[in-house]
Amino acid sequence: MSGAEVRLCSVGDVEPNSATRFVVDRHKIALVRVGDDFYAIGDTCSHADYSLSEGEVDPDALQIECWKHGSCFSLKTGEPDTLPATRPVPTYDVRVEGDDVLVKVEANGG
Ligand code: FES
Repeated sequence: MSGAEVRLCSVGDVEPNSATRFVVDRHKIALVRVGDDFYAIGDTCSHADYSLSEGEVDPDALQIECWKHGSCFSLKTGEPDTLPATRPVPTYDVRVEGDDVLVKVEANGG
């Protein structure tokens, strides 16, 4: 089944270098903005049930840090580069069309 593309929000709804949580169907998604680029990854940390969108975005490393225990997840691959998390979170295809941020609600891996 190929995932449906869903409009999450407007470009201006997410501040640069921040993350916002969205729930679409059963998918909990952290939408992250770095400059004018958007990334979408699974919002639930792979270590425990905490929301990654509440963590700090590192715009240079393109990572988001889990606020609970500090694992940093790649915005591109969903892979953590620091313990205690060892498993990736899913990633989602995201694109901007006009003022709309669209996400394909079908996770890549994770
Ligand atoms: S809950 Fe995220 S690193 Fe522990």
